[in-house]
Amino acid sequence: MPNIAFINSRYIEFKNAKVHIEDRGFQFSDSVYEVLKVINKKLIDFDFHFKRLKYSSSELNFNIKIDKKKIHRIFLSLIKKNNLTNGIIYLQITRGTQAREHAYKKNLKPNIIVYTAKKNFNLPNKNYKGFKAITYPDIRWGRPDIKTTSLLANILAATYAANVGAYESIFIKGNKITEAAHSNVWIIKKKKIITHPANKEILKGVTRTVLISLIKSLNLDLIEREFTIKELYNSDEIFITSSGSLITPIIQVDKIKINNCKIGSITKSLATNFYKAII
Ligand SMILES: Cc1ncc(COP(=O)(O)O)c(C=O)c1O
Repeated sequence: MPNIAFINSRYIEFKNAKVHIEDRGFQFSDSVYEVLKVINKKLIDFDFHFKRLKYSSSELNFNIKIDKKKIHRIFLSLIKKNNLTNGIIYLQITRGTQAREHAYKKNLKPNIIVYTAKKNFNLPNKNYKGFKAITYPDIRWGRPDIKTTSLLANILAATYAANVGAYESIFIKGNKITEAAHSNVWIIKKKKIITHPANKEILKGVTRTVLISLIKSLNLDLIEREFTIKELYNSDEIFITSSGSLITPIIQVDKIKINNCKIGSITKSLATNFYKAII
């Protein structure tokens, strides 16, 4: 069965799906994106992703009115066409194609690209895994709250982590932790769950948003505030969240072992409750 992608108004074989060499996403990273999870054939948290897509494209003045129902239909159709049980849907919208020039012209026609990929998620069952992370300077531009494909700093950080056998790179700005190369970061100290506030310094993760409501419904102690690298090292538990990683425990940061390199009980219980809530 061929793998099918969607470009603009057409479903097309993945291997034939191409963009123009003067597409602004290709030349300037002038594009926004979303990654959604599909678990047991179910599309998860579509509304939150759509809301953030609208935010990102409007912050960058994209000339697009995105039709929510149409995008939803495309996603469901690709899940079916590609027989996707567990995996991700990748959506990218570029500002459009234009003769190369930094300043963009008004009224460009955005290019819309959607495809799917299979993925095994880190689920809180007997194979639930904790991982190492490293810290890395947050050298990103000033608007990481916009989900753009302008990800060079994240790529350098993630590649550095991969080269030293770590799963994620946790960003340090001054002596504060912001988030990570491809996820939000949480620490737990004395049963208090702490994560950076959703301001312009981090991406407001959909997984983060959903987990916050879950934490509140469980009457656990949540604090959205900045925290330092010292607090990170001294925490009882650490985990990261993203659509691809769900809730993934971090059991070592740099040389520091967290909870003796064991997955913490609060992290495990949050992951279990989260999984129950989304499927
Ligand atoms: C930098 C960054 N922060 C946070 C997240 C988590 O966002 P979400 O939970 O919406 O996947 C991601 C996801 O890719 C990310 O790249």
